[in-house]
This record gives sequence, structure tokens and C-alpha cells, in this order.
Amino acid sequence: MHQDISEILFSEEHIKAKVQELGKQITEDFQGKHLLLLGTLKGAVPFIADLARAIDMPLELDYMAISSYGNSTQSSGIVRILKDLEGPIDNKHILIIEDIIDSGLTLSYLVDVIRRRNPLSLSICTLLYKERKRMKEVPVNYIGFTIPDKFVVGYGLDYAQYYRNLPYVGILKPSVYEGESEPEQQHASPAE
Ligand code: XMP
Ligand code: MG
Repeated sequence: MHQDISEILFSEEHIKAKVQELGKQITEDFQGKHLLLLGTLKGAVPFIADLARAIDMPLELDYMAISSYGNSTQSSGIVRILKDLEGPIDNKHILIIEDIIDSGLTLSYLVDVIRRRNPLSLSICTLLYKERKRMKEVPVNYIGFTIPDKFVVGYGLDYAQYYRNLPYVGILKPSVYEGESEPEQQHASPAE
């Protein structure tokens, strides 16, 4: 286990099993429909890559990058589109793929943007759903795991862009971000 992680919540095997289960359900629910999986960059990339391969029907993949965080562990409430979809979606069923729903601010903004483009339908799938009071409530159709209100990283989720490559989801030690100091990995990274 990485030295900055206090507890592994979901192992690689555990995540794999859940992704298969979600994929099977989504395959049943969208059979015969023109489905586009809308992944949110960057956190949902490992999840959408695995989930798409667990869905046994033709589908499209596209991505949006929206940001509400900066390098902090608290939602700023300011959401920006950094990258948009490639084309119109008014003839498609949209399934938004999220890594995590925390305050709900990011997702509710994304839902508003997508609804205005009149897709045939709009559904939401998230790997992780935090147990907390949400600033914006958005109905979620598919939830991988419900988690406690702790800051988690791994399997796409980052702190200050690091830890995305951990194969599991774990709780980040608060000492790593208290005072918003740089994470350990940042100093050790050979790429920087
Ligand atoms: P909101 O609060 O808008 O947050 O629902 C959604 C986005 O915030 C990030 N986020 C996290 N990232 N560990 C992370 O690595 C967390 O515990 C966490 N909580 C929120 C994430 O980018 C998500 O899309
Ligand atoms: Mg993030």
C-alpha cells in the first residue's frame, strides 16, 4: 500500500467485480438504443475504460473536461468547461460517467449543460457516491459504491493530479493535504 494511504476502501478485484455488474445492468437497460457514454476528464478515465468494455452493445464514447476544484480538497463552486463534446447529442441517449459525486455541484452544472442540448434521455452513473449533505441534489441512476465523507484517491481520483494511477481506491492521509502541502509523490516523481 502507498505510504500516503491510510486505508484501502476498494481493491482492484473489488472494483473489477462492481464494474462487471454495472456493465451488465447498463447493457440490459440500453439494449437497441443509440448510447453515448460521456466521461468526465480526467478522474473518470479508468472507470469509463473498464465500464465501456463491460457493456456488451454498440456505443459511442466522448469526453468533457469540467473543473470545480483546483488543487484543493474542497469544491470551489466555480465550474468551468475545459473541453466540450465533439458533436450534437439530440439523437442520442446520454449516460454521464463520473468518478465521484461529492457536493454535487460539478454534476448539477454538467446536467444543466447537457439537458439544454436535448438528448433523447440523460442518465448518470458514478463509481463513488459520498455520504454527505449535498449542495445540489441530482438523481443518480447507477452507483458503484457509497463511501464515507473522506477524501479518497486512486483508480483515476487525484489529489493535486497525483495518485490517479493507484489500482485501488483508498483514503488519503489528511496529513498529506492539511495546510495544502504538496503530496509526497510530487517530490519523488521522476517525470517532474
Ligand atoms: P463535487 O463536490 O462537485 O465534486 O460533487 C466532484 C468532483 O470533485 C472531485 N472530488 C474528489 N476527488 N477525491 C478526489 O480525488 C475525493 O474524495 C473527491 N471528492 C470530490 C472529483 O474530481 C469530482 O469529479
Ligand atoms: Mg479531481
